[in-house]
Amino acid sequence: MKSVIDILDLSVQELYEMMDVAIDIDAHPAKYAHKCDGKKLATLFFEPSTRTRLSHEAAMLELGGSVIGFSGAQNSSAAKGESVADTAKTVSCYADIIAMRHPVEGASLVAANNASIPLINAGDGGHCHPTQTLADLLTIYREKGTLSGLKIGMCGDLKYGRTVHSLINAMTRYEGNEFVMISPQELALPDYAENALRKAGVPFKVTTSLEESIPELDILYMTRIQKERFDDPDEYERLKDSYSLTVDKMEMAKPDMAVLHPLPRVNEISVKVDDDPRACYFKQCLNGKLMRMALILKLLDEAGTPGHSGYWEKGEVHMGGICPNKKCIMRTEQELEQKYYIDEEGNKRCLYCDTLILN
Ligand code: CP
Repeated sequence: MKSVIDILDLSVQELYEMMDVAIDIDAHPAKYAHKCDGKKLATLFFEPSTRTRLSHEAAMLELGGSVIGFSGAQNSSAAKGESVADTAKTVSCYADIIAMRHPVEGASLVAANNASIPLINAGDGGHCHPTQTLADLLTIYREKGTLSGLKIGMCGDLKYGRTVHSLINAMTRYEGNEFVMISPQELALPDYAENALRKAGVPFKVTTSLEESIPELDILYMTRIQKERFDDPDEYERLKDSYSLTVDKMEMAKPDMAVLHPLPRVNEISVKVDDDPRACYFKQCLNGKLMRMALILKLLDEAGTPGHSGYWEKGEVHMGGICPNKKCIMRTEQELEQKYYIDEEGNKRCLYCDTLILN
């Protein structure tokens, strides 16, 4: 059963095929209007969402299917203490495919391992958000005509920014890309995301200055400083206004630089930038729905065939270790056994959240 937990669960070839399907859906929606007749999508959203939940739901409805689900943990039996595993087993009796968002890192992998239907990770804490990356990839492809040879600036919360981590995993697979990582030191990339860049041999620069970096960029990927991920409210207050993309700063950028943002935004992009033709963040919303349509079609089509769900690419899996990440599913899920894999540098990493295990 193929599920998508990490963008690396989809090969480069599969991503190109999905982009072709998404572009065809955009041009010929009627051709696809009954492809999922009789099929049900369950949207299990344990964390707030506008775009990801509604675009998955719109995607299934536009394919002729129907939708069940909930939009908050308080509306599900998680509020009574039900585990992620039991939820996944239960919903597998009611639907054909699941899209799940959860605040805990690794929750989607645990759900996929217990579901008997395909599962789409719609965001697991600060870890991964592969379907946002599908939206980002199609947007970059449509705007730049290529996914290669680009200088990509990522700005804001690179530590907890799951969309950043997934986009890095995706863009390192195309030739000639370079990154500029722009963040306060406190919100720098986690070690597993830096590791992905090093492993792929992709050049990257780390800086705190958006002004100094913007003139050299082909893509600027802005992100929100995410209040909900901070343990210390004072730290959030200190960092929340770190960056603001304004009309003045846009004047320093290349005439064809594309500005992306997964949204929601708070104040990190001035509303005045929205009128600039280089602002692509609302195009991402549409592209996200089209790519989720392509993904639902693909996963339902392949549902009867063997596949993997999220970790076979990581390497051989072992039992043991203790994950130090307080936001890992290991801390919350009943009787979940700790597992780890060995990365290419010989380090032990938690199977669920990719955090380094030192014991
Ligand atoms: N980009 C994104 O994940 O938005 P939502 O939180 O509104 O789903």
